[in-house]
Amino acid sequence: MPDNKKRDFLSINAADATVMKVQKFLAGGIAPRPIALVSTIAADGTGNLSPFSYFNTFGANPPMVGFSALRRVRDGSTKDTLNNVQATRECVIHAVSYAMVQQTSLSSTEYDSSVDEFQKSGFTAVNSDVVKPKRVLESPFHMECIVKQIIPLGNDGGSGNLVLCEVVKFHIDKSIFNSDVIEPQLIDLVGRNSANYYTRASGTAVFEVEKPRAKKGIGVDQLPSEIRNSHILSANNLGQLGNIENLPTETEIKHFLDTFEDNNASESISEDCKYFTIFRAALSFVNSDSNKVDELIETAAQIALENKDTDFAIKALCAGINLIRQKAE
Ligand SMILES: Cc1cc2nc3c(=O)[nH]c(=O)nc-3n(C[C@H](O)[C@H](O)[C@H](O)COP(=O)(O)O)c2cc1C
Repeated sequence: MPDNKKRDFLSINAADATVMKVQKFLAGGIAPRPIALVSTIAADGTGNLSPFSYFNTFGANPPMVGFSALRRVRDGSTKDTLNNVQATRECVIHAVSYAMVQQTSLSSTEYDSSVDEFQKSGFTAVNSDVVKPKRVLESPFHMECIVKQIIPLGNDGGSGNLVLCEVVKFHIDKSIFNSDVIEPQLIDLVGRNSANYYTRASGTAVFEVEKPRAKKGIGVDQLPSEIRNSHILSANNLGQLGNIENLPTETEIKHFLDTFEDNNASESISEDCKYFTIFRAALSFVNSDSNKVDELIETAAQIALENKDTDFAIKALCAGINLIRQKAE
């Protein structure tokens, strides 16, 4: 993994790069992208199914989603999906789960316009309630859409055509909900990266980041310099600490240290908390080795942050700073 403080940039004017190169930059740097599996019908009723990863949601009231169908780089020609939405102004957009990624990829094959990719990809077509294009039964999340606007973004090979759609009906598999939240582990989505790479958005790839608080966090700039210049704490650790609303007061730090001096109280909390044990070990070096104190406290704070115990982390770090400063005086 590159060190994010020592970047060696390739800096290039977009106009000096070939369309292919630009496409590669965009596909690698804007990733993983959600994938829309788009079902449309032509004016003559022929069905069509193709994936588009230049895709996202743009509003909830009204519910708006959009994808971009690019003109082919080789000859500037337009894709069936674009021709179909221009003619019939309807589509169904499906989320792509891991279980259907290979069939989805197959549906991107450039078959002749007369070929319905539902058949080629082996997906099961079911009727929609509001629009004419069929739905893909295998997807856990469907949106029946009316096409509101098609915005051409150029006229050459590689130019996008932004298709903005209003969702008029959702069909969501009830089993992917946990309370009213669509659970990443249950919907098991895939995203598109560069080249042939995809990302599976479940398992350990999914993690939580606490939202910045309603009251504003103090910011990394307000952390004591000893914390900001740590060689152990990561940039993410500093981001977590910058989200606290206040640094602990001297009284709070003293109370925190007292807990560790009261053996009975600290024994009971240290049972299954590795970071408590490490912090206690750090205290035993206060009179002998300041570097060791520093190293152990920062390690304890880091483990506490991994365990979402920001309160422990900041108190331990501030206590360590106080102890080392007092020792130096
Ligand atoms: C996962 C995936 C994502 C894709 N995303 C896009 C996209 O965002 N825009 C695009 O123009 N083509 C994209 N493609 C390529 C189209 O799916 C492909 O050109 C397809 O043949 C178009 O079909 P159509 O002519 O039936 O519309 C993607 C292909 C795959 C496999």
